[in-house]
Amino acid sequence: MDDLSVNNLLGIKYLNTDDLKLIFKTADNFKEVINRKIKKVPSLRDITIANLFFENSTRTKLSFELAQKRLSADVLNFSSSGSSISKGETLIDTVNNILSMKVDMIVMRHPSPGASVFLSKNIDSCIINAGDGTHEHPTQALLDAYSLQEKIGYLENKNILIVGDIMHSRVALSNIFAYQKLGANVTVCGPKSLIPNYISSLNVKVEIDFKKALNNSDAVNMLRIQNERMSETYFPSIREYVQQYGLTKDILDSIDRKIIVMHPGPINRGVEITSEVADSEQAIILDQVENGVAIRMAVMYLLASKLK
Ligand code: CP
Repeated sequence: MDDLSVNNLLGIKYLNTDDLKLIFKTADNFKEVINRKIKKVPSLRDITIANLFFENSTRTKLSFELAQKRLSADVLNFSSSGSSISKGETLIDTVNNILSMKVDMIVMRHPSPGASVFLSKNIDSCIINAGDGTHEHPTQALLDAYSLQEKIGYLENKNILIVGDIMHSRVALSNIFAYQKLGANVTVCGPKSLIPNYISSLNVKVEIDFKKALNNSDAVNMLRIQNERMSETYFPSIREYVQQYGLTKDILDSIDRKIIVMHPGPINRGVEITSEVADSEQAIILDQVENGVAIRMAVMYLLASKLK
């Protein structure tokens, strides 16, 4: 099968296992391309893509833009600061105005959960969710799973641990869906106050004891505390959080196997992860960023082939 089952990428929830495998196979080809001396292909030469960022980003924004340029697409960049959003223009009006300039595809990051799904129901264009509030971050989960598979092989029956602020993390939810669709077992770990109630409906194991959870894992994804999404305090102090859930070299060395350490970024060094661990050979954090370009090239290439 050489076609995705979807016309938009709104969340991993909407993909099937064959979709994930097709995206990975396509990313393998693009990874080979971007490691050549001439890193550009003409695949999307006649396509115009608008990147709409209503929330800050470093990795996702640059990675999408670079992926678009590697595919020879024309690129428009929009950020909400400095736009007419401040004059009261709605999201739908903003996007319809951009689409009337003959734009073929929208990449959108938005602080509201469900913003991409909402947009897909109200406009006629291909939409890629680049992170919507606490909901999903599908390309992050794709690049995470792809990078991990590159290191430890097929993820079927592998044990993957996600640690930290599960409640406010779009990466956690997309990771859970992606790993499960690839046959892995997922455990989440963090303070009870940061584990959402809906987790019980996701067939995910919950472990409050960090060291116990690590001992049973092939890989760990360390998440940042999303202070910007919190309106109240969820644990007594950062110091206590670090003592309970911070990943240090001593903790890693106390485990009897070499687990892979991942982080979606941005890192808060000394909080969820020490510099020694983040920069260690067990960490694949920069591999994740590198693979993000090939994964996003694959997603846009496959979705462009479905444009009307
Ligand atoms: N991982 C991630 O989404 O990083 P940015 O917020 O910098 O895009």
